[in-house]
Amino acid sequence: MKRSRAILVWLLTLAALSCVSAKTFLKLNSTQDLKRIYAEKENPVSAHSLPLLHLLANHVSIDNNTHVYPDFDPTTDYGSDPYENPENLLDRDCKYYTLGNVNKKFNDSKTIPPYVRHPKGLNMPNMNRARILLCLSYNGKRWRIHQVYLTQHYESRSQGTAHDPARTFEISPELLRELQEFSFNDDVAALQRLRDQYNQNIDNSQLNSIINTWGREQAPLGLLILHMNLSRKRMKRCGGPIPSQCEEFDQMHVAVVSGSNGYATIVWRDVYQSWIDKQAAILLFNSNDILQTYIVLESSSGSYETSVSLNDGLQARLKNYGDFGLRLSFIGEYCRSPEFQSPKPVPIRGYDIAKLQLFVRNGYSCFRLYFEKDYTLDRWFPDAWVALYESYRESTDNYNSGQWQWVTYFAEGPDSGKYKTYEYCTGTAVDKGLQARFMIRDYQERARTPIWV
Ligand SMILES: *[C@@H]1O[C@H](CO)[C@@H](O)[C@H](O)[C@H]1NC(C)=O
Ligand SMILES: *[C@@H]1O[C@H](CO)[C@@H](O)[C@H](O)[C@H]1NC(C)=O
Ligand SMILES: *[C@@H]1O[C@H](CO)[C@@H](O)[C@H](O)[C@H]1NC(C)=O
Ligand SMILES: *[C@@H]1O[C@H](CO)[C@@H](O)[C@H](O)[C@H]1NC(C)=O
Repeated sequence: MKRSRAILVWLLTLAALSCVSAKTFLKLNSTQDLKRIYAEKENPVSAHSLPLLHLLANHVSIDNNTHVYPDFDPTTDYGSDPYENPENLLDRDCKYYTLGNVNKKFNDSKTIPPYVRHPKGLNMPNMNRARILLCLSYNGKRWRIHQVYLTQHYESRSQGTAHDPARTFEISPELLRELQEFSFNDDVAALQRLRDQYNQNIDNSQLNSIINTWGREQAPLGLLILHMNLSRKRMKRCGGPIPSQCEEFDQMHVAVVSGSNGYATIVWRDVYQSWIDKQAAILLFNSNDILQTYIVLESSSGSYETSVSLNDGLQARLKNYGDFGLRLSFIGEYCRSPEFQSPKPVPIRGYDIAKLQLFVRNGYSCFRLYFEKDYTLDRWFPDAWVALYESYRESTDNYNSGQWQWVTYFAEGPDSGKYKTYEYCTGTAVDKGLQARFMIRDYQERARTPIWV
């Protein structure tokens, strides 16, 4: 009896191991795919990986069979080190090398060039996290690259030098080919054609400023960085220091909170009187950086109920202003609030493949179901529903009539990591005390969100 149990455990372990070894990562086929991953807001991909990819792409040749050959020694150059796959990140059947360690000391191998170590367009320190993993073979004459992966070390030092599988992507030869179009050359007309082909929103003055910053030769990389929208922060910040959080100033507190009827309210406390004396205002921006409204400050604490519909990403910014003629003109920025965020999703009891969130969209209370991609929603939750309650005290059958929906009727939302999302917005404005609950089969409650505050 004991023995058969031991065998069972062994088999299960084997099964688990064999699952672990089947690795697939999102394959990026074009600069458009690349742009999409750089645009992700949460846990973003290191911007410094882009010059590194550019370096690789411009030191390989790709033949008609999409075989990729390096023009450098992939075992010693550009910070290369053998990668033994200690975290079991990749499949085993390959000789791996990792490129991109900018701190590595070299003898006479090719070093990582300055434009990768300290790219001019990225106004942020290189934390040396970005890496390229190459799967290589050698036929006695030359190296061939079978696979290219983009990856990065975790941000937090506590996770050591492990690579983040959620930020690991396979890079296709087609993408490398596209990146080769941005190879260094000093032909300005070619640069303009590249701009016309990739991003017509970039105007000639931006193009000139790229040339001024990067020099003619390297301007194509500057264009690539701008096209990927990675220099946006720098362009906004170059007039002043990196934005401060208001919390950094003594007891100061500035925030966007949920007001009445689904509108945003700005609250502030302990703003320095000296700032107010010099004319201060709080401006409300949405997640696209568009000004929604503002309030001129007359006292160091207060609140302002706006008529801007509440949404995730709203942010209050405390600025100095001057009166020039008829319009206020906002000059320097003191600090910013955190961005408004709906409460985090909660797990659904008994179903660790799903989570429930109550969130706000344009002021209305909405449900979002996170559901793991590999499963089928209507097979798991054919009779599950979510309802909105006035307060946590309401009994389960006392939901806001009309403010409920079958989860199979939710609309598909954007993917979020390993989850698909499904959403449903009620016609009820968000308000204090509201709560969403998840039920299966009549009234078997499986989750309730924190109450809205
Ligand atoms: C890239 O192409 C492969 C097929 O070659 C496909 O499976 C994959 O989904 C594509 N990647 C993206 C991001 O579309
Ligand atoms: C690769 O393809 C191009 C165009 O299809 C052709 O001109 C060239 O000869 C090919 N090269 C080889 C080595 O087959
Ligand atoms: C660098 O030089 C040291 C000592 O001269 C040698 O042991 C090492 O293998 C060299 N490394 C490379 C990458 O050539
Ligand atoms: C850059 O990103 C912002 C938001 O993050 C977006 O509004 C803007 O359209 C993007 N610009 C380009 C050129 O894609």
